[in-house]
Amino acid sequence: MTDIGTQSESSFKVDDLIAQDIDAYLDQHQNKTMLRFITCGSVDDGKSTLIGRLLYDSKMIFEDQLDALESDSKKVGTQGEEIDFALLVDGLAAEREQGITIDVAYRFFATEKRKFIVADCPGHEQYTRNMVTGASTADLAIILVDARKGVLVQTRRHSYLCNLLGIKNIVLAVNKMDLVDYDQAKFDAIVSEYKEFAEEIGIEAFTAIPISGFKGDNVTTAPSETTPWYDGPSLMDHLETVELRSDLAASKPFRMPVQWVNRPNLDFRGFSGLIASGTVKPGDAIRVLPSGKTSNVRSIVTIDGDLDEAVAGQSVTLTLTDEIDCSRGDVIATSDDPPEAADQFESTIVWMDDEALLPGRAYFLKIGAQMVSATVSQPKYEVNINTMDQLAAKTLELNSIGVAELTTDRPIAFEAYEDSRAMGGFILIDKVTNATVAAGMLHFSLRRAQNVHWQATDVTREEHANLKNQTPKVLWFTGLSGSGKSTIANEVEKRLNLMNRHTFLLDGDNVRHGLNKDLGFTDADRVENIRRIGEVAKLMTDAGLIVLTAFISPFRAERQMVRAMLPDTEFIEVFVDTPLEVAEARDVKGLYKKARDGELKNFTGIDSPYEEPENAEIRVNTVEMSPQEAAKFIVDAIMPLK
Ligand code: ADX
Repeated sequence: MTDIGTQSESSFKVDDLIAQDIDAYLDQHQNKTMLRFITCGSVDDGKSTLIGRLLYDSKMIFEDQLDALESDSKKVGTQGEEIDFALLVDGLAAEREQGITIDVAYRFFATEKRKFIVADCPGHEQYTRNMVTGASTADLAIILVDARKGVLVQTRRHSYLCNLLGIKNIVLAVNKMDLVDYDQAKFDAIVSEYKEFAEEIGIEAFTAIPISGFKGDNVTTAPSETTPWYDGPSLMDHLETVELRSDLAASKPFRMPVQWVNRPNLDFRGFSGLIASGTVKPGDAIRVLPSGKTSNVRSIVTIDGDLDEAVAGQSVTLTLTDEIDCSRGDVIATSDDPPEAADQFESTIVWMDDEALLPGRAYFLKIGAQMVSATVSQPKYEVNINTMDQLAAKTLELNSIGVAELTTDRPIAFEAYEDSRAMGGFILIDKVTNATVAAGMLHFSLRRAQNVHWQATDVTREEHANLKNQTPKVLWFTGLSGSGKSTIANEVEKRLNLMNRHTFLLDGDNVRHGLNKDLGFTDADRVENIRRIGEVAKLMTDAGLIVLTAFISPFRAERQMVRAMLPDTEFIEVFVDTPLEVAEARDVKGLYKKARDGELKNFTGIDSPYEEPENAEIRVNTVEMSPQEAAKFIVDAIMPLK
C-alpha cells in the first residue's frame, strides 16, 4: 500500500507504516533531540508527496494524527519521554480550551539522529489562524515552491508569517525539479527572486534546496545525480543537523516564568516552572519580576532529586534563600541581567475571532503564566499579507494582522518576541465568551507611561468620604434607549439629596454634549464612551460622591471593566429592564421610528446589540413600576448607606 508511484496527492498511504506500539517508539528515541517544523505550500506544490516521502524514506517507526496520540496519552505519560509529547498535547489542549478552531495536522517521525514533529497547515481561507498556530512552536519552515511556477503570492505570505512568528530557519524547497529537467538556471532564478523578497521582509538567511518529492531527488541523499550542480545538503540532512532553538535558548540569560507556587507544608516553598532561557545553579543571584525583589537560589528540586544545574527546556522547582513575594505569573531571572517590566507596548496582533477587535475594550492577556487585563489601541496600520503593504485601519477583522499599542493594567515582565517566544508571545481572550480572539507578539515597551507616577495626596479618598458622612458608590443604570434610565436616576438622586447625600448624576445625552462630543455610536465609540465615564465616575467616588450614571452601556465587557475599576462593593449595576417593544412604543425622542426608517444607523436594539446584565445587583421592571416606585425600590435596596 505504500504507494508513491503516482503524483496524485492522496495516493500516498501510510497506514501500514503506523507502529503498533507507542511505548517501543518512545523507548527507542528517548535521547534524541526534537525538531518541530512546518510545511507551507498549497496542495499543488506537492506538499503531501514530500511529507510522505520524508516519512517513508526515514523508515518512520511511528506516525499518527494527534487524535490517536491523545487517546494513548495515559500510556505515554508513564514513559520517560513525557515532556515532548505532553508539551505538544498540552499546547493543543490549551488551544481547544481557548476555543480556537484549528485545522493543523501533526505528524511524528524519527530518524537515526532526531525526532520530528511536522505541522501541516492547509492553505485554505483560514490559513492565517492555522499557520500562526502551527508556526508558533516551530523551529523551521519548509516553504515549498513549484519549480515551474516560482515565487507566488502565497510563497510570500507564508514566508512573511513564518518570519513574523520567529522561525529563524527557512528552507526554500524548490520542488518538482524533475518537471523542469533539473535545470540549474530555473533553480537559480527562483532563488534570486526569493532572496530579494526575503531581504525586503527581514529574513536574514534561508537554505535553498532543489528537490523532487515525487522522484526523491535531494530529499534524503544529496547530491542527486540529476543535480550535479548542487553541492548543498539533502533536505533530510538539513533537518537532522540544523541548530535548534532550544540549544540557542540555553546560552541566553536565565529566565523562568513561575507556573505555580509549590507549598506542600510550612517548611517548603518552591517556585515551579519551565526554564525559558539560560541556566541556573544553587547560589545564583536572582531577581523576581515585575517586583524587582532579589534573593539567591537555595536549591533546584525535581522529582528525581536536587540538581546542581538546570537549563532551558527543563521543568524545575526553585527554592530561594529569602522569603520574598513571588507568585504565579512572575518571572524569576538572573539578577544582573533581568528582563524589562512595562505596561505599554508596541505589538503585532493577529486577529482570530469572527468579531473584530474593539480598540479600548479590555481583554484578558495571557503571556507565559501571567494573566492581566489589556486594551489595544486603534491599529497604527494593518499589513496586507499578500503585498506586505501597510494599510490604515480602524480595527482588525478575522485573519488580519496589524501593529498596535497595547496597554496592560499592571506591569508585566517581558522580552521582545524576536528574542523569546515564551516571554514575548501572548494571546488575547474575550472576557465574556472566554474565546481566544488574538495571538500577538510584543516588540518593545513604550516609555511614555514610565515617567508618569501616581501622586499620593494628603487628603485621602476616605477623608473625602468621611467629610460627607457617606460611603461612595456608583449606581450604574443600564438599559435600552427610552427604558427610563435618566428619569429613574433623576428620581433616585432627588431622594438621596433629601437624605443629605452628596451625589452627582452623569447622563448619556448630557455627557455626549461635552466630554464625549467627539464620539458617535459605533461599537468602538461606545466602548470609549463607557471607558471615559467609568474613569470620571471613579474620580467622583474618590471625591466621596455617590455617582449615578445613565448610559445605555450596551456591552457586558465594558460594564465589567468599570466594575473592576472600583472597590468591590462600590459598583451597583441597576438594570432598567424595559422590553424593546415597550421602549419602542414609548419612543420619547422619536429615535426608534427614525431607526426603523433607516435614517439612524447603529441604533441599540434595532441594528446594534444590547447585552442584558446577567447578575445586576438591582433590576427594575418599568412595566410594573412607575419611575417613582422604581426609585423608591432602588433607594431602599442601597440603604442603609452611611
Ligand atoms: S452608549 O451606548 O454609548 O452607552 P449613551 O447612553 O451614551 O449610549 O447614549 C444614548 C443616547 O444617545 C440615547 O438615549 C439616544 O438619545 C441617543 N442616540 C443617538 N443615536 C443613538 C444610537 N444610534 N443608538 C443609541 N442611542 C442613540
